[in-house]
Amino acid sequence: ISLKPFNTFGIEEKANFLIEVNDNETLTEIFKNNIFKDNFFVLGAGSNVLFTKAFEGYIIHMTSKGIQSRTDGNDVYVTAQAGEIWNDFVWYCIEHNYAGVENMALIPGTVGASPVQNIGAYGTELMYIFHECQAFDTRTGSFILFQKEDCCFSYRDSIFKTAHKGRFIITQVTYKLSLTPHLNTSYGAIEAELDKENITNPSIADIATVVSKIRVEKLPDPSTVGNAGSFFKNPIVTESFFATLQKEYPTIPHYPMPNNETKLAAGWLIEQCGWKGKTYGQAGVWKNQALVLINRQNASGQEIYQLSEHIISDVADKFGVTLEREVNLL
Ligand code: EPU
Repeated sequence: ISLKPFNTFGIEEKANFLIEVNDNETLTEIFKNNIFKDNFFVLGAGSNVLFTKAFEGYIIHMTSKGIQSRTDGNDVYVTAQAGEIWNDFVWYCIEHNYAGVENMALIPGTVGASPVQNIGAYGTELMYIFHECQAFDTRTGSFILFQKEDCCFSYRDSIFKTAHKGRFIITQVTYKLSLTPHLNTSYGAIEAELDKENITNPSIADIATVVSKIRVEKLPDPSTVGNAGSFFKNPIVTESFFATLQKEYPTIPHYPMPNNETKLAAGWLIEQCGWKGKTYGQAGVWKNQALVLINRQNASGQEIYQLSEHIISDVADKFGVTLEREVNLL
């Protein structure tokens, strides 16, 4: 089976088998057939994965759909099935006046993938609206509920990427949203865009529209230019290391973090190394955002991987900072 339609990088690699999962019973059946004892990988929209070789085993493609909600005073608990497209879910919430997801409009991917790397953008992160999720344990065949505390969320990270990596399949997620919006316009680009459009009293739909506009300007559209969003995570360094960097690079963008740490902007580091807009065979670095690697046409996963190795090595040489990939390598 060709994986090209199943990854937003548009990489042409093959897998032995692909199984569509659109309900929980299918997972139970797959378990009974011992497929989880074989090599498998769970895929949503394929927007955070780089295939670098043929996949020997089963691709489990999550396509379950459905959204339900229950209100409790000012709170609304919205439960969506794993295969719902994240941005469709965002607009469903906005249409129903459920506030809390609007800053995360147009993030690629599915509901089921959203907790895995604690997706976030434009001033918010999934962990702030996550309530619980249901997951299938591929070792025991049972369905388990994970509460927020169980998930160990942090910047682009959760237990599903660490201790439980490869074990659980998220089948549905419940978000805790609000019927009264608490708008978050702290992110500079949002404020600037609202000003520009003379919106003084924005609705959640305005926020989502503005965020979508900013994203479209900065990030390539995977339907025309293959990519997986930010290829690297923004590195987190100690405050003291940051202080020495800042002496040499006074304009270096940075964000304070808990525990005496500082987050750097990987896109800035990469741009300083001269990579922004550069091509590398069929691969390249996006011209408007150096954190995004692209498939210019027919890049192989290997080519994109090699480009990422060059970038990691240049950033390490210049700044003494090791970039980590955000994208899953397969
Ligand atoms: N910058 C540069 N050059 C670049 C890119 C960025 O100098 O080529 C500088 C910017 O000027 C700014 C700073 O780096 O001072 C941060 O840039 P930006 O606000 O664009 O965000 P980012 O840190 O590069 C993160 C997320 C994005 C998310 C944006 C907006 C990560 C790995 N990435 O990017 O998420 O959309 O913030 O909140 O945390 C994704 O994860 O796939 C993703 C796109």
